[in-house]
Amino acid sequence: MSRKNQTLGEFIIENQASFKYTSGELSRLINSIRLAAKVVNHEVNKAGLVDIIGTAGDTNIQGEDQQKLDVYANDKFIQTLKNRNIVCGIASEEEDTFISINSRDENNQNKYIVLIDPLDGSSNIDVNVSVGTIFSVYRRVTPVGTPVTIDDFLQKGSQQVAAGYVVYGTSTMLVYTTGDGVNGFTLNPAIGTFYLSHPRMEFPVDGTIYSVNEGNYIHFPQGVKNYIKYCQMEEGDRPYTSRYIGSLVSDFHRNMIKGGIYMYPKSSKSSNGKLRLLYECNPMAFLAEQANGKASDGFNRIMDIDPTELHQRVPFICGSKNMVEKLEEFMRDVK
Ligand code: AHG
Ligand code: MN
Ligand code: MN
Ligand code: MN
Repeated sequence: MSRKNQTLGEFIIENQASFKYTSGELSRLINSIRLAAKVVNHEVNKAGLVDIIGTAGDTNIQGEDQQKLDVYANDKFIQTLKNRNIVCGIASEEEDTFISINSRDENNQNKYIVLIDPLDGSSNIDVNVSVGTIFSVYRRVTPVGTPVTIDDFLQKGSQQVAAGYVVYGTSTMLVYTTGDGVNGFTLNPAIGTFYLSHPRMEFPVDGTIYSVNEGNYIHFPQGVKNYIKYCQMEEGDRPYTSRYIGSLVSDFHRNMIKGGIYMYPKSSKSSNGKLRLLYECNPMAFLAEQANGKASDGFNRIMDIDPTELHQRVPFICGSKNMVEKLEEFMRDVK
């Protein structure tokens, strides 16, 4: 039972029974994400005051300049999950390969693995625009008691047991699902507690916002170009409004509340788009479906894609059901 102003801690305990796999372990896992989110939030809020903006001087495996806060958030989430002896493996946008965690008794009894984008939208840090964290949780597929392998991480999105994000915005929110709808919690920074502020979040079936980096228009597939032109045409409730923050988390959050579509299609410059399947697209797809929305690569359901590598990229289209289906129609028409 959810009720407004319930704390996240209370909500986790009271809803434990609805988990597909009843176990205190998943509750403890979400609790540690809550803790790490508060620590990262505190640091993000200080950006500009202390020396934490700018690049860290390194590049990650995907060739992006790591920001200081990318590294900080990565360390905090990994440290929190490791120290509390909760998961058996972690993969992150900022780590070349997955991390295998030996439990305290060195016997790998933990069942869950976590994939994270520790700081999403990091190019927005220096200009004081919202950033986020994305996480995705699976049960391991290899036997308990053995070290995790790549197979534990390369699971289809449909196997996720939990997923969520934190948005460090005008207020800080943690939004997550364990497969029984999506709930959003807002942080009261004065006392450091998350409260249930957005119970049962749902995408409106239709929307009037489209979010895409239109600077790349010339490189988009013809189907996407045609859909963008459709959004701009004067007819019925069109032209739609264009809104693009450049932080997937924030763009998704706005579209879920107001109704809209987010697109990061492939282009003639990047044949699989930019976003990463395992720690960006799959968790957002799980949230979207749980919130009555839809996530697709333009042709197929995101959560049905069989992953082949940890940092795999895919085209990503996500949002209000009717809008995503309209775009898919445009894609099929020019196939
Ligand atoms: P990250 O900061 O985790 O590397 O992710 C960046 C992603 C995503 O947040 C955003 O929607 C997209 O990159 C923006 O890309 P463009 O600047 O190419 O539009
Ligand atoms: Mn990055
Ligand atoms: Mn990201
Ligand atoms: Mn990131």
